[in-house]
This record gives sequence, structure tokens and C-alpha cells, in this order.
Amino acid sequence: MQLPDEAITYHYQSLLHPAVEEWTPAAELRTQHYLPPGLLKDLVPRLMQVRSQVAADRELRQVPPEMQPLDAGFIDLPQKTLEQDRRHKEAGPLGRILARAAYLHDQVDRVVILGIGGSYLGARTLFEALRSAYHNELPSKDRSGQPRIYFEGNNADNDALQELLDLLQTTCVDPEIRDERWAVIVISKSGGTLETAAAYRAFRREAVEFYGSHSDRLRELVVPITGATGKLRELCKADGYKDEDIFTIPDNVGGRFSVFTPVGLLPAAVMGLDVRALLLGAQAMTRRFLEEPFERNPVLQYAGINYLMHTQRATPIRVLSIWSKKLEALGLWYDQLLAESLSKHGQGPTPLTTVQTRDLHSRGQQHQEGVRDRIINNLVVKTPRYPPIMIGMADRNEDDLNQFNRKGLPDVMDAALRGTNQAYYDAARPTADLVVPTVSEHTMGQLLQMLMLATVVEGRLMGINPYGQPGVEAYKKNMKALLKG
Ligand code: PA5
Repeated sequence: MQLPDEAITYHYQSLLHPAVEEWTPAAELRTQHYLPPGLLKDLVPRLMQVRSQVAADRELRQVPPEMQPLDAGFIDLPQKTLEQDRRHKEAGPLGRILARAAYLHDQVDRVVILGIGGSYLGARTLFEALRSAYHNELPSKDRSGQPRIYFEGNNADNDALQELLDLLQTTCVDPEIRDERWAVIVISKSGGTLETAAAYRAFRREAVEFYGSHSDRLRELVVPITGATGKLRELCKADGYKDEDIFTIPDNVGGRFSVFTPVGLLPAAVMGLDVRALLLGAQAMTRRFLEEPFERNPVLQYAGINYLMHTQRATPIRVLSIWSKKLEALGLWYDQLLAESLSKHGQGPTPLTTVQTRDLHSRGQQHQEGVRDRIINNLVVKTPRYPPIMIGMADRNEDDLNQFNRKGLPDVMDAALRGTNQAYYDAARPTADLVVPTVSEHTMGQLLQMLMLATVVEGRLMGINPYGQPGVEAYKKNMKALLKG
């Protein structure tokens, strides 16, 4: 059940032309760089049409060739998964995920997640947002026994992979001790991604060495998540896996839209996150998207505003300015979502993630005075999860902070955000705020689903297919050819 004060909202009014404004040089600039409200009003009927089209895409059984690929399965997946959970309990897809996560929790202290792009960024986003930044360093009891988490297989960096293997070799010596055992979750929808496949080979070799070549643990502690067909599935079958031991990514869900399939849900469950709350948040967002008018529909608002800024106000750069260190990985996830979905046929915004206040000390200058080529979407977390750390009084006041003794870090963050927004407004730099009440499973579910839906809507507005990433194939083909040479 969605609590009203937990809903995500998008505040874009500050980048519309003010109704009445006295002439000043800055006001003149805002006329050039901000949106006339009429443009947005005119777009609303089109947004409604696109919403109907996106809704209709979910029902298509036979996809005509000109519409392929069509990976609209992600839209209803949260709701379907929750329904199956209610109906089938442990025997449903979520029940299987939770059972496997519980098994890994009992058996191992470390879990390595192998995958790249959409096959890992969602899990990393959830881990960084919802677990302590020091999770892996905490004693087991302070992690409630949740395994330490590592991400690999997302690169071909020899030394990075070796460092993780070294860590396992030095800290895990006796496979009979739970705290020295480790597991692998290997994720690849196609089953043929070289970076992940090569890393998996290295970890299989390591697992054989550690657990013994005949150990059942090789299958019990290596969990594959893959498409219905492909090389990874074939390899697992050859290794003696039964189909029910392999988690399947639905055909109609693309990689970067797969965070609410086992791709994101199994890692989330292993981290001890409330996966039902995640799904409820995502389901609530789908419902808002499908049912709410424009005025209460953050998906349509975000897609519409960003589309208009891109096409009518020549802002090819889309900055996600994140006011929370813990959401930086969400920025990486969004970079991939936007870049792979919308960069086609010589079109598409260029995503750029910045983390505040850190990057005010690097890119701040550029946003304030650089080329006028960007819209800045602030991602604002209203309330931190922990009580405020106060500045407080100190005997030594050489730093002059006693004047702020009753302020806490959230006040500093809030003043920085408001001060930055004011500075951007004064310089006619278009800015909007995407506000997340607090970081929880429920709000992360909403946020991820909102950004996926908005990306699809924007693609349809642009007249391009947001699904598929044909451009990524070129490097893969060349890389394989060069390796053969
Ligand atoms: O969005 C996508 O489909 C891609 O980013 C994939 O997730 C990524 O290329 C990994 O592919 P695979 O899961 O097939 O290994």
C-alpha cells in the first residue's frame, strides 16, 4: 500500500517562463532558454496518446517486424510478480528467489555478482542506496548475517578481477566454515557477453579449486540468471543444472529494464532488502503512469519536460544532479538506460551524472557559466534515513561554525541545493527537481520504474524505438574477430 507522503514528485515549474516578469537581462535570458507554458500545454494531448500507445504495447501478442524489439514486459511485471506471490506463495517466482537468497545467506559470507550493463547496474544501485557504504567491512552480526557483496564481470580489467580473486584466496581458506564460503550469481540475458563469460570462467575455475571438482556446492553456490536460451544456459545444463535451478529472465524484458526480474530481485534479496516493498513501489508508479492525469503523473511530466527541453531548447546534455552520495550508482544506471534507449539515428540526449555537493567543486562552474547546452534535473532526497549530524558548539571557534551550531548536515545540504537553484535561476540555467521523500525500498521501486517508463515515453515522442541497442553490437563483433586473429 503506497503511503501518500512516500510519493515521488517532479517539480518543473521553475523552468517555465514566469507569467509576468519585469524586464531584466536575466529575465530576457530566461525567455530564450526556459519553456513557454504553452508549449507544454500543447504537448499534453500528444503525451496522452503516447501513454495509450505504451499501454497498448503491453497487450501485443504478435509483434509486427517494424515494432521489434518490443520489451514492454517490464511495465506490468511488478504487479504480476506480486499477484503470483499472493497466489502461489513459496512456489511462485518470488518465493523461489527468496528461498535461494535464504539458502545463500545460510551457506556463505560473500556473494560475487557477475554481470554487465543492465545485468548488474540495478543491483548495484540498490546495494549502494539501501545498504551501508561499509557493509562489506562490518562484522557479520552487524550485517544481520547478510553476505558481503562484490560486483565483477562488468569489465575486462585483469587487475581488478585478480584483486577480487586474491581477496577470496586469502580470506576463504576452509570451505567447511560458513564464514569462509563464497557464492557466485552469474547474470547474462543473452548468455554470450564476453566480459561476463570470461569472468565466470575464472570464478568457476576458482570454485572447482576451492570446493573440489565433484562437490555439489559447485551447483548450489553458483546461481545462473539468464534468458530462455543461450550459451550460459547450455553451459549450466552441461554442468548438470536442472532448468528449475536456473533463474530465467523473461523474453519480453530487456537488460536495462530488468531490475524487477531475478536480475535485480535475487541480489536484492541476498542483500536482505524488502523485495516486496520494492515491487509495491514499482507497481504504484506503473499505476500512476497509466491512470493519473498529467498534473499528477511524474512519468509524463518528466518525459514531456525533458523532451521539450531537448527538442525545443537545444539542450543535448541531460544532467542528473544527485543530492545524495548514496544514489551515485543510480546515476550510472540511468546513464545506461537513457544512452542505450534513446541514442539512435543520430538523435538522443547525452546523460551526465553529477553528485552534489561534491561536484559543485568540479562541474559547478560549467553548469553556472559554461555552454548553454543542458537541463539540470536535481534528484533530491527530502529526509535522510538517520538522525541529523549537528554542527554543534565547540570551544575552539576558529572555523567560525558556532554561528551554525543548531544546524545539521541536512540543513547544509538543503541550503546548498536552494542556493544552487537560485544561482542557476539568476543565470537562466534550466533546472527542475525530482523529489524522493526518503530512500527506502518503496521509493527506490517507484524511482526506477518511473525513469524506465519516462524513457520509453520519451523514445515514443521522439519517434524512435527505446528498446534494443543495435549500436552496442559493433564493438562486440570487432572484439571477437580481433581475439580470433
Ligand atoms: O540493456 C541491455 O540490454 C544491455 O545493457 C545488457 O544488459 C548488457 O549488454 C548485458 O547483456 P547480457 O545480459 O546479455 O550479458
